[in-house]
Parts: sequence; structure tokens; C-alpha cells
Amino acid sequence: MNYRLGLIGFPISHSLSPWIHNMFLKNADQQGTYKTFEIIPEEFESTLNDIRKEEELDGFNVTIPFKQKIIPYLDEIDQYASAVGAVNTVKNINGKWVGYNTDGLGYIQSLKEKFPQLFRNKGIRVALVGAGGAARGIYFALMTNGFRRIDVGNRTLEHAMDLNLLSTPETITNIISLHELEKVITDYDLIIQTTNVGMKPNSDSSILSFSKLRHSQVVSDIVYQPLKTQLLRQAEEKGASILCGHSMLIYQAKAAFEIWTGREVDNIKEMEKQLQNIL
Ligand code: ATR
Repeated sequence: MNYRLGLIGFPISHSLSPWIHNMFLKNADQQGTYKTFEIIPEEFESTLNDIRKEEELDGFNVTIPFKQKIIPYLDEIDQYASAVGAVNTVKNINGKWVGYNTDGLGYIQSLKEKFPQLFRNKGIRVALVGAGGAARGIYFALMTNGFRRIDVGNRTLEHAMDLNLLSTPETITNIISLHELEKVITDYDLIIQTTNVGMKPNSDSSILSFSKLRHSQVVSDIVYQPLKTQLLRQAEEKGASILCGHSMLIYQAKAAFEIWTGREVDNIKEMEKQLQNIL
């Protein structure tokens, strides 16, 4: 099989997904291509229709800012992605576009790999920063993995209310402003930054500022360019442990590749190291 894969998003010129998926194809001894399609948001519908007609993709990833916008254009959506309300992976099954979400799973796997202790304590308090498509996937995956106290800090409170609709009765979620979150930041065991603030070329910006942190706190950022964002550098300075975004990137890509090809990706840790080196 010669896999025709790709990525849609905006902006995506610096994406490392082509590097990752070409590596997966090579390691699996498979032929294929992974093309990027940068779609101007105002031209989303017409460009997507052109891609559908002309490219005959077997599968593609969806990134900022289309993870929710893609949903009406899909023929089917799997149960998990439908519950999350965001799609980052599409598979062409006999001409039908089927949507999946591997962000949450990817995030959980990367977190578990580095901080397994967080999964043993049911009382862990999590602060999720942001309420977009990526935040939805991570929020849902945290809940399904037993995390019960997940507060959401977002610039626009109404957007975070929308995310709160995903919560189950066992979950306690407070919606707070970013300013409020900064004031109570030491209350949390795990802080997860899910917006694109701090991404190159605006790598001097940080969505939160920490006046202090505890040594036992874990701060994680899903931005992977730069490898250590301003937020993570600051967290390290204050003595907290950090989880860099390239880790989630590779695990969500692994899950997407497995959906498209039905082949299990191995050597993921080795690839994660290689990815870290090129960042
Ligand atoms: P994605 O699908 O990648 O998660 P998204 O759905 O566009 O992207 O969500 C973007 C998230 O980043 C939102 O939480 C957004 O905050 P708002 O809900 O207030 O829009 C947040 N965000 C983006 N730019 C921001 C900025 N400059 N400051 C604070 N939050 C920002």
C-alpha cells in the first residue's frame, strides 16, 4: 500500500508531523507521503472540498484552528471524538471521512510515561489552561483516567463554560480567569497549558506568570516549538518538574498512524529522543 497522508491547519509551516509520520512509514517499511495543506480559515470549506476531490487522502491530521470546525464535513465520527467534540485525525474508510481524537490519549500516554505517580493518587488537583479543541481532548481524557478535580482557567470564561459541559457528575470543575488562576496556582499538583501562547515566533510570551511554585508540582505545555517554552523555563526556575509538548505530539501521532495503517508503532521512546534533538 502507498499511504497518502496529510495535515490541515493554519499556520502549519513549522509542523513536525511530516517528520514524524515519514519516520513511522520508514520504520514500518511502508511506502507513502505526508503532505501539509495550510488552509486560510476564511477559505476552509472550499479548500477542504478541493482537497477531498483532488488528493484522495487515506488519512489526515487536523490541527489549529480546525479541530471543531471539521466536524460538519465528516461522514462519521467515532464515539470518543464525538463526546470530546473535537477531531484531530480523519481516516478515509471506503470513501467516507471518519473522525477520531487522539490528542487526549496522546497526552495521557506522555504524562504517564514521565509521571506515573500522578495516576496513583485520586486526589490530584489539575489546572487546565485554555478551553479550545486541544483542551477538550485533554479534559475528557483526564476524566476517563480517573482525575476528578480539574479546574479550567481561560481568557474567555464563556468558552470554558462550554468545555465544562463535558464533565461527569463525579468531576469537580471550577471555571476561573487566568488572573484568578495565577493567584491560587500553588493549590494544583498538575498545570497543563493547552493554548498556542508561547509558540514560535512569539516565544517570549507566556499565558501565566508564577510568583511561586512547589517542588512537587508538575507543569506541562503542549506547545513544542520551542522545546522549552517561556512558561516551562519559568516553572523550572521555580523548582517545579516539567513535561514538554513534543512528548504529546509524538504519542498523538502514534495513535493516528495506528488508526490509519492498523500497524503498531514501536521504538516510540527512541523517536521521542530524536525529535527532542531536532527541536
Ligand atoms: P485548539 O483547537 O488548538 O485548542 P482553539 O480551539 O482555537 O485551538 O483554542 C484556542 C485556545 O487558546 C482558547 O482557550 C483561547 O482562549 P479564548 O477561549 O479566550 O479564545 C486560547 N488563546 C489563544 N490565544 C490566546 C491569548 N493570546 N491569550 C490567552 N488565551 C489565548
